[in-house]
Amino acid sequence: MSQDSLPKQVKIVEVGPRDGLQNEKSFVANEVKIELINRLTTAGFANIEAAAFVSPKWVPQMAGSHEVMAGIDRRPGTIYSVLVPNMQGYDRSREAGVDEVVVFSAASEAFAQKNINCSIDESIARFEPIAKAAKADGIRLRGSISCALGCPYQGEVTPSEVVSVAQKMRDLGCDEIDIADTIGVATPGRVKAVFEALQVVLPVERFAGHFHDTYGQSLANIYAALQMGVSIFHSSIAGLGGCPYAKGATGNVATEDVIYLLRGLGIETGVNFEEVARIGAFITHAIDRPNHSRAGKAFLASEGKA
Ligand code: HMG
Ligand code: MG
Repeated sequence: MSQDSLPKQVKIVEVGPRDGLQNEKSFVANEVKIELINRLTTAGFANIEAAAFVSPKWVPQMAGSHEVMAGIDRRPGTIYSVLVPNMQGYDRSREAGVDEVVVFSAASEAFAQKNINCSIDESIARFEPIAKAAKADGIRLRGSISCALGCPYQGEVTPSEVVSVAQKMRDLGCDEIDIADTIGVATPGRVKAVFEALQVVLPVERFAGHFHDTYGQSLANIYAALQMGVSIFHSSIAGLGGCPYAKGATGNVATEDVIYLLRGLGIETGVNFEEVARIGAFITHAIDRPNHSRAGKAFLASEGKA
């Protein structure tokens, strides 16, 4: 496929405040999370995954989600999303006034058990009342499929296992479905095979690529997904993150690197690379973590700030 046929526009879902920070061992102050989200809002991101209304016993870092959602300055038009694993989470998210709730399961039974303490089918049954309530309340519904390209417990995951969960999420009424490489093991051939298999479920515009960068393949995987017509990608500022239930998995692909790639391809994202690189500097200094964005670091060094 030629470069001309790549999407002209891409929606970046900035997941740093949730996926990026959820794995931090020491609690990141709500004020820091709020300032991060406000800066991302000002930078113009169309969709920010801001928090998670999950059990604080399971993910203590997300305990301040209500305060975070109450403290941010929202920009009309920006979608602020939160993860919800059950009705308890949904009720909390509605009180917080979110734009989108994200239900999350996995393509592998073993990972579903570790992450949400139930089977895939049990998770879908748990999501049914959430989906009904979200539709009634006019809240967008997104579905996320972990381990769609490999599982730390099961190993190989087949495209048909991904298709099966995607069909269930479609039937729930998900507006968008994330195909997540939770442990960052995929390579472009597998990415293409999975998106090709998903064509029977929904048009490609309804799927998002959520790539972690553990094996350094995430940008290549994004390029492969672009060639398949995928136009929604998740990324995390400065490449922050990891998954509490996937040992050794590193953060999401860095937002700065994705924007740099897309800008080079002439693909519109609505956000400015330089401004986003400076947000990467802000958050990595604020939580004293290394900046994992190659493009971000290169730019900051050129400004004498790295
Ligand atoms: P459980 O222990 O089976 O559930 O957990 P439970 O109903 O027995 O609840 C246990 C306790 O948690 C109870 O408190 C509940 O009230 C409380 P207690 O009575 O013991 O004091 N609780 C809650 N509190 C607040 N909000 C809630 C909530 N639910 C229960 N919503 C459960 C089952 C699903 C709740 C748990 O496993 C959980 O919260 N899991 C979330 C794990 C998580 O957040 N993982 C990271 C996000 S997924 C991810 O990162 C992948 C993604 O990025 C894509 C990719 O890369 O793959 C999206
Ligand atoms: Mg993730």
